[in-house]
Amino acid sequence: MSRTIEVTTSHRGSPSGKVDNQTMKAVRVHKHGGPEVLQYEDAPRPQVAAATEVLIRVYAAGVNPVDWEIRTGLLKKIFPVSFPWIPGWDLSGVVEEVGPDVTKFNKGDEVFAMPDATRQGAYAEYIAVRESEVALKPKSLHHIRAAAVPVAALTAWNALFDTARLRAGQRVLIHGGSGGVGHFAVQLAKWKGAHVIATASAKNQELVYGLGADEVIDYRAQKFEDVAREIDIVLDPIGSDTQERSWKVLKNGGILVSLVQPPSEEKAKSFSARGAMVQTRPDGAKLADIAKIIDAGQLAPVIDRILPLSEARRAHELSQSGHTHGKIVLRISNRGGTL
Ligand SMILES: NC(=O)c1ccc[n+]([C@@H]2O[C@H](COP(=O)([O-])OP(=O)(O)OC[C@H]3O[C@@H](n4cnc5c(N)ncnc54)[C@H](OP(=O)(O)O)[C@@H]3O)[C@@H](O)[C@H]2O)c1
Repeated sequence: MSRTIEVTTSHRGSPSGKVDNQTMKAVRVHKHGGPEVLQYEDAPRPQVAAATEVLIRVYAAGVNPVDWEIRTGLLKKIFPVSFPWIPGWDLSGVVEEVGPDVTKFNKGDEVFAMPDATRQGAYAEYIAVRESEVALKPKSLHHIRAAAVPVAALTAWNALFDTARLRAGQRVLIHGGSGGVGHFAVQLAKWKGAHVIATASAKNQELVYGLGADEVIDYRAQKFEDVAREIDIVLDPIGSDTQERSWKVLKNGGILVSLVQPPSEEKAKSFSARGAMVQTRPDGAKLADIAKIIDAGQLAPVIDRILPLSEARRAHELSQSGHTHGKIVLRISNRGGTL
């Protein structure tokens, strides 16, 4: 099969004909606000600043709700950022340069990562990240698809495996089974041997069954608490009323794991259950484990849509709607070949 590969130069030429290694295209935020504060513009190209850093040429960046939650100022206290700030916690690309103490990666390696975007994010042609945040990209995935994985898959893993200690045979209720985190959680819970019940609206039923769910509840047509029973683990990426109503589906000793709102200790006690809140951190070693599962054909990202980096505003508007499925990805380079 022939592949179309668009050849682009790695360094922009200046009007004088000199090669410009100092700047790059990026999407930057200069103050908190709506999608209009996302500026597609020239920015200084980052350098490897510490001995254990890796400079990556970014081919694609995933979009997560946290990107616009920080952009609006909603998460000022948890994720303080200094301006100009480049959003983006998900990336796939190629190593351009390594610091002297980097041991795991070499120039030219194809990698993916969840960088610490409070320093600098991935909506850019280049990013310098800590070696510990990086893993080799799953060989079976194009960069566009690999960029959809890190935050959402790490979060599903943290919630189900590290926090709830999911075991084969347990019953799991995954809210938002069609969402970024939810679609990975459904697949990972199934991979572990759980009985998976997920919520999704009518338009996403087929998608979520296709990911391996045993039961999918249309949360708009039915109250999930009337259907789901004796649940060991609830995964809550929604909060508020959904979290409140989730307590009653748990069996004694069950756990409600939320991504968005710390569960009430009082409620947990009154339902003889436990509650936990997950906060995902960059973790290259865990990403490497996830890459293995992907390459074994047992986990795959779903892409809602691919937009060019210059359309980051549109990407944020879509993400902010709360009803995209799978992931939105920003294409930054055509070098990865056709999808
Ligand atoms: N704490 C952490 O470390 C962490 C990490 C990652 C994400 N998060 C947070 O977790 C939340 C979810 O993230 P995400 O990336 O999965 O978001 P997302 O992809 O934007 O979620 C969208 C999905 O949510 C579904 N949905 C919306 N309302 C629902 C409801 N009432 N019941 C069931 N499903 C519903 C939608 O399905 P329909 O279109 O079918 O309605 C849609 O597919 C965000 O607030 C994010 O910031 C936290």
